[in-house]
Amino acid sequence: MNLWPPELKQMLTPALQVQLLTMTEADLQAVVAVEQTAYSHPWTLGNFKDALKAGYVAHRLVAEEHLIGYFVAMQVIDEVHLLNITVAPAFQRQGWARCLLQSLSLWSQAQGANCLWLEVRESNAPALSLYKSFGFQQVGLRKDYYPAGRTTRESAVVMSMPLNT
Ligand SMILES: CC(C)(COP(=O)(O)OP(=O)(O)OC[C@H]1O[C@@H](n2cnc3c(N)ncnc32)[C@H](O)[C@@H]1OP(=O)(O)O)[C@@H](O)C(=O)NCCC(=O)NCCS
Repeated sequence: MNLWPPELKQMLTPALQVQLLTMTEADLQAVVAVEQTAYSHPWTLGNFKDALKAGYVAHRLVAEEHLIGYFVAMQVIDEVHLLNITVAPAFQRQGWARCLLQSLSLWSQAQGANCLWLEVRESNAPALSLYKSFGFQQVGLRKDYYPAGRTTRESAVVMSMPLNT
């Protein structure tokens, strides 16, 4: 199924065959391969399987045989919590994360959600910059939320963004 919202279709040139597709179990090998190249503490295959089983929304951007990126998010009543957003290193800094966030926003609004939430490592400057430029604001800090080194932990910045409903 092609999930491009009409607003995003306008951003694509006819020559660029990029599709936004639902993530299924059959995609997970490729997803985990990208995940392992993108994070110091990647999600495992089991984490992705659990997310799909739980019915979380999971979409991936593909260009022919290439997996550009993906997101996983969980809806709780009128809020959507972004759990994972990743762009493969070879495709970073080309606007694809913004595209994924825009797609998530449109999907969330279509479900009746009025707010997006996420947590991000305090040290993840690229992601913090992405979220701030997209309209997220910091609303909290969870101390020692993520594992960092073998014995150290790192805080999570909690961010949210209202959706136009
Ligand atoms: C964070 C991430 C998703 C950004 O993906 P991307 O496709 O490269 O981002 P975009 O090209 O859409 O960039 C949008 C904005 O994000 C910010 N940004 C993205 N990468 C950045 C970097 N390396 N340094 C500083 N700012 C960055 C910039 O504000 C950028 O806007 P600009 O290009 O106009 O300056 C990507 O780096 C990634 O997958 N990282 C590893 C996984 C991760 O950390 N995910 C987030 C977990 S909370």
